Amino acid sequence: MLTGLLHAHSGLRYLVLVAGVVALVWAVVGVVTKRPYARGMRIAAMSFAGLLHLQVLLGFAILVSGRFYPALIGHIFLMIMAAVVAQIPVSVLRRRPPEQRTYAPHAIGIAVALFLIWAGVAAIGRGLLGSSMM
Ligand code: HEM
Repeated sequence: MLTGLLHAHSGLRYLVLVAGVVALVWAVVGVVTKRPYARGMRIAAMSFAGLLHLQVLLGFAILVSGRFYPALIGHIFLMIMAAVVAQIPVSVLRRRPPEQRTYAPHAIGIAVALFLIWAGVAAIGRGLLGSSMM
């Protein structure tokens, strides 16, 4: 059970990273070309935030299954911050009228979330793309 959860948690990280990079490129292209806000941006940002939340859930399932050591505290704290930061632009922009929606908050939120993910993985001594299980 624990091994399966660990493999799922380790593997889902790649999907989270791909979704994050796609959403970041989308947002940066939007900022640079100054094109009008499109629904695709919202979908890309929501996919990234959604996968990140799923990853947080899996992480807690691993903790509940009995895997814990003090160095994980940094991992957990940074990952919760990443999930919050990824969600903020999605939630804030949803409340804005369509003509006031822009790409910049997405670009900043996604970039900061990706940085926090990198730091969170480094906190347990792993590389962003590396693993101790394989
Ligand atoms: C609050 C949320 C999270 C909790 C509670 C959590 C918990 C854990 C735990 C218990 C481990 C096992 C550590 C070990 O085996 O030594 C782990 C490993 C790991 N976590 Fe998380 N995690 C969370 C969020 C995330 C997120 C958002 C990502 C990346 C997007 C992530 C990426 C990883 C990676 C890459 C590993 C190492 C797996 C490996 O060695 O292959 N975690 N996490």
